[in-house]
Amino acid sequence: MSLTRRDLIKSAAGIAAGVSLPRSLLGQEPLNMTTIPSSGQQVPAIGIGCRNYRGSLNSEKMSVFKETFATFHRGGGKVIDTSPNYGNSEEIIGYIMNEQGIRDDLWIATKVDREGRQDGIERMENSFELLGGENFELMQVHNLRGTAIQLETMKAWKEQGRFRYIGITTSRDAQYNEIEQVMTAHDIDFIQVDYSLGNRNAAERLLPLAQDQGKGVLVNLPFGRGRLFNAVGDRPLPDWANDIDATTWAQVFLKYVMSHPSGAIPIPGTTKPHHAEDNLNAARGRLPDAALRAEMESFIDQLL
Ligand SMILES: NC(=O)c1ccc[n+]([C@@H]2O[C@H](COP(=O)([O-])OP(=O)(O)OC[C@H]3O[C@@H](n4cnc5c(N)ncnc54)[C@H](OP(=O)(O)O)[C@@H]3O)[C@@H](O)[C@H]2O)c1
Repeated sequence: MSLTRRDLIKSAAGIAAGVSLPRSLLGQEPLNMTTIPSSGQQVPAIGIGCRNYRGSLNSEKMSVFKETFATFHRGGGKVIDTSPNYGNSEEIIGYIMNEQGIRDDLWIATKVDREGRQDGIERMENSFELLGGENFELMQVHNLRGTAIQLETMKAWKEQGRFRYIGITTSRDAQYNEIEQVMTAHDIDFIQVDYSLGNRNAAERLLPLAQDQGKGVLVNLPFGRGRLFNAVGDRPLPDWANDIDATTWAQVFLKYVMSHPSGAIPIPGTTKPHHAEDNLNAARGRLPDAALRAEMESFIDQLL
């Protein structure tokens, strides 16, 4: 089933108009969901980025990684994003999912970052080995590396059921034109782009195009790699944060991304349990409407 642009806008508006929750109940409510346009599958409106899950399986950091994953899973999180390009992140994630018995509960996205056909095949086979299981949800061409060649293999493997969705990623404006070309030339399910309250360029063409074409959107760098936290410093939250049930700056930044009518799913990177919990809470309660989104933009523009 494919959803139209109007369906998506209706669904985003439905969340935006959602009922206000008493503060005491935030954190216990189910997560708001987003619909994947190419399938109609519902997934939580927030994910987690695993770029910083690196190091020896015997290192002390592992206990914090495990607790972060357990917290994310317990709170209803499903969408995880990793890459063979992030050190041994896939090995660590695979190990944790296996140990905690949570692999089947998660919605797993990884990437391929090779130019050549055979190199790409070997890279993707290795991801299957490290992440375990026969299939997973999303394979993405990392930063448009070898796009045409990798998409051929990826389309064939999607047909075989090895992954449910295929896509492409970038986090650089210089690649936006090429992203647009690939979106138009290829039948892909997802794009992953950088988009945040402080970096709104993707909303000019890419996000509206994704809406029109019925492609899902994952959003990397929703905090601009921490730049947004530096911008607000220790300022108290503005009064309007109450109107969207945001109790932290992280939730303000994530709710801005989620409220884009494309149904964008932010994948904030964290290796800390309390940040995972904070970020999940962004997918509870109300979202800003168009007027408040504009106010949030003016607010941050004065600080950046
Ligand atoms: N081209 C690509 O495909 C591409 C490029 C870049 C990123 N990505 C994906 O996108 C994900 C996110 O990107 P990113 O991690 O580089 O940047 P980001 O999500 O914008 O920012 C991550 C930073 O924010 C901090 N943070 C997270 N939650 C927080 C909270 N609730 N309160 C305060 N600080 C918080 C993290 O620190 P702690 O770890 O201490 O929580 C980390 O320093 C990556 O993990 C990766 O999966 C993909």
